[in-house]
Amino acid sequence: MKYGVVPACGLKILAKEAFGKLEKPPKHDLVMLKNDRQRKFWEQKVKGRKSRLNNIMELGIARGGSLPYIFEICDAEFIVGVDILPEDPKIKRTYNRSTMKGKFALHFETDQTDRDALKAIVNEHFPDGLDMILDDASHLLADTRTSFEILFPHLKTGGLYVIEDYSWSHNEGFGLLAADRYRQQPAMTQLVLELTMLMSTHHNWITRVTADYNTITIVKGPEKTPDPLSILEHTVNWAPFDLDNLKSP
Ligand SMILES: C[S@@+](CC[C@H](N)C(=O)[O-])C[C@H]1O[C@@H](n2cnc3c(N)ncnc32)[C@H](O)[C@@H]1O
Repeated sequence: MKYGVVPACGLKILAKEAFGKLEKPPKHDLVMLKNDRQRKFWEQKVKGRKSRLNNIMELGIARGGSLPYIFEICDAEFIVGVDILPEDPKIKRTYNRSTMKGKFALHFETDQTDRDALKAIVNEHFPDGLDMILDDASHLLADTRTSFEILFPHLKTGGLYVIEDYSWSHNEGFGLLAADRYRQQPAMTQLVLELTMLMSTHHNWITRVTADYNTITIVKGPEKTPDPLSILEHTVNWAPFDLDNLKSP
């Protein structure tokens, strides 16, 4: 299995595939589930941006390694992590001896669909809005849609909403290894269509939706969105698509 140690914020981050057997790993402070290809994506995305990504929120802390990595490549000012897991005090201790000290907040035991909790976090840390939101949490369609509807209204114009690992339904490695978790679940790919429909109806709310093999990126437009936002209710749908039609000859 491939892994490597990536330096970030003065820490050693072990980067590894989400699934698979780990050989004896080299010395490290934290673990991040972003492999070489995913890190290349991130580095290309932030390289040469005109506006900085200062204020960032990541859904999905796991073993803590991705926050310092994202913080460092974005040259961010403040980052917040959210996870449904119980608090792991080692993560906070480790961040406090990194260059992120005083520039982060962690919210454990918080569900990505908990509107009141997410709103309270945004109001506490980002009253003037966010530059980037990254959803690397449950990767389930309903949860991911709900988080988007809660958080997207808080992005600044030109800000990025990035949904990672959306393609598990069509990606043999991911699909097979995570089969139990995702069996019978609707494919996240549907969200690409929904977001594209919302953009077509309200091109001043969303200026761009792009998808690569693993990630969906939504760029916030200049017009304020309603809050609460509902993708399907705010989409004009004269000719509703039927996913079964996609399979027709
Ligand atoms: C893929 S891991 C995150 C990996 C991390 N971002 C990284 O790159 O190292 C997914 C995380 O999302 C969390 N999670 C799953 N369902 C969630 C939910 N409903 N709300 C919040 N967090 C959730 C899991 O506990 C897990 O830690």
